[in-house]
Amino acid sequence: MKQSKFDAIIDRRGSGCFKHDALPMIFGQDHLLPMWVADMDFTVSEQIQQALQNRLNHPLFGYNLRLSDFYAAAINWQQERNKWEICKDWIVAIPGIVPGIVLSVLSLTNPGDGVLIQTPVYQPFFDAVKDFDRKLVISPLVNTDGVYSIDWDDFEAKLKHAKLFILCSPHNPISRVWSREELIRMGRLCQKHKVLIFSDEIHGDIVYPGFSHVPIAGLEDFTSLCITGVSPSKSFNIAGLSTAVLIISNPELREKIGSLNTKMHLYLGNSFGIQAFIAAYRDSAAWLKELMDYLDSNRILLQTTIANELPNIIVSPIESTFLAWLDFRAWNLSQRELIDAFVKKAKLALEPGEKFGTDGNGFMRLNFGCPRSILVEALDRIKLLNKELCL
Ligand SMILES: Cc1ncc(COP(=O)(O)O)c(C=O)c1O
Repeated sequence: MKQSKFDAIIDRRGSGCFKHDALPMIFGQDHLLPMWVADMDFTVSEQIQQALQNRLNHPLFGYNLRLSDFYAAAINWQQERNKWEICKDWIVAIPGIVPGIVLSVLSLTNPGDGVLIQTPVYQPFFDAVKDFDRKLVISPLVNTDGVYSIDWDDFEAKLKHAKLFILCSPHNPISRVWSREELIRMGRLCQKHKVLIFSDEIHGDIVYPGFSHVPIAGLEDFTSLCITGVSPSKSFNIAGLSTAVLIISNPELREKIGSLNTKMHLYLGNSFGIQAFIAAYRDSAAWLKELMDYLDSNRILLQTTIANELPNIIVSPIESTFLAWLDFRAWNLSQRELIDAFVKKAKLALEPGEKFGTDGNGFMRLNFGCPRSILVEALDRIKLLNKELCL
């Protein structure tokens, strides 16, 4: 296969990176292949590097005011990628999508109110509800041989007990890209039951051929129901620069969330994050295309290896993200035994499925945003473990 810049193995240890340096703290061991936390082991685009260098060459780092280029980058990206017309007034700048979810939960619901999520799902969705004394309302997704879908009767029944629905679009960890039809059906039901929607679209730029990401707020007349969270942090690998935006067309919702953001002093932003955000969305589309080609080859390698050589393991079809959702229930291990097998025998750090809800027991999430040789090594280790456990 042709060499790629993404093949380069970069030693991240000692750089203070959570994925590598927190291994002893989280897994009790150091030398594991880290395929857990959702960032990629790739350097950022040259455009982002240059923008950060330029900012460093102006070495004053006081409080920031986002200028028109920041807003233009966000507006044009949505227009070009998703054909979604948004305007500057709708944008609320925040330090991350998770803080955006928490701000929305706090300003749009009261203690005791229900907040709906679809499991298995990204763990902080649970915390954003439980930590602030709201009530978790769960509509589990239906898993049919690894393919996840919505149980529409359950979804509607649960909406009756919710004020807010946190939608993961595309969905981490099952990597589904919700279709236009599914989004319309969800939106109409939310409208019918007067439930607001926080749509977390952080993975919206990482979508594989044959699928397309659609912002739910741009469909039908859903815009006034929706708070949309977007950020270049996953797709351009800049999660450590803490810069994201909420897009909220409804002035009433925007005022509530925006004023809490201001009161908590979360709005001023990070001097480097702002520049990286602009350089990502305005200047790095070509880099993202190259990245997607590379991730797509990793995805195909992973799916075909599992289908051909590990038929007792199920990988959910990967439509988006650099995260694979793997079903190891055929091994008949408890979640603790499963984690131990990966850590102690295979020396692999994967994200335990139980973190995504009880329906994640027996599953692991594998991050394939890494050089191909690392992915091959990880798959070889899984094959060995499979042989050992299933003999
Ligand atoms: C669905 C989803 N939302 C939010 C985040 C984190 O967003 P942030 O770092 O901007 O808070 C992640 C990170 O993996 C994610 O997968």
